[in-house]
Amino acid sequence: MNLNNYKLQAAEIAVNLIQSGMIVGLGSGSTASLALQILANKLKDGTLQHIHAIPSSVQIEQQAKHLGIPLTTLEEHGKIDLTIDGADEVDEDLYLIKGGGGALLREKIVAQASRRVVIIVDESKWSKRIGFKWPVPIEVLPFGWGSQALFLEELGAKWKLRKKTDGSNYLTDQGNYILDSNFGAIEEPLKLSELLANRAGIIEHGLFIDLTDDLIMVGERGSQHLKKNKLPKIWRKK
Ligand code: A5P
Repeated sequence: MNLNNYKLQAAEIAVNLIQSGMIVGLGSGSTASLALQILANKLKDGTLQHIHAIPSSVQIEQQAKHLGIPLTTLEEHGKIDLTIDGADEVDEDLYLIKGGGGALLREKIVAQASRRVVIIVDESKWSKRIGFKWPVPIEVLPFGWGSQALFLEELGAKWKLRKKTDGSNYLTDQGNYILDSNFGAIEEPLKLSELLANRAGIIEHGLFIDLTDDLIMVGERGSQHLKKNKLPKIWRKK
């Protein structure tokens, strides 16, 4: 089975957790997008009814509109019942790195507003410790971004200003830049998260600490539905 099939399987398991009448948070990225399509099908065939969704990026909002999913906002509904989102890297503590698609700020707002956050990944995202495989996307205000880059160097990171394929600077949905910052395997993610959060000019960072309620991971070893602190040994690397 290839990674796309794993993603699809994880998405199907997650969408089965949605119940009629729920406010649903829509994550961004290719895996979350598969969940969105499955949700749209269930609304069409009547398996699910009275769902209102809150998208975490302009792209996913457009896709949801295209699929005819009723949308709402956090102003109308300040609490989300269940959010389904993907991740770039996930570790034993169910800490995440997110933002590979650039939507980290809205994704974190949506996750923090959610009663339950379900993360869906294929097994390639699994890591002993976040940072080992993936840099931390850090959204910075264009004003003074060079000073944030120096700050990140002082914290031990190697950064790259994210670019589009045409060579221009990548802009988030909020019009900010992203510094993809490689810290290596992150020993103290909470401490790093606080240091980044305290810095003016850093709008948000892609470390998602203690935001995952459920992790649905599919791979060669089958599908695993993991909850915080209940990780089966088979997924722990030596
Ligand atoms: C979007 O900004 C990200 O946080 C995505 O959730 C993450 O990049 C996972 O995307 P894929 O499902 O496409 O791997």
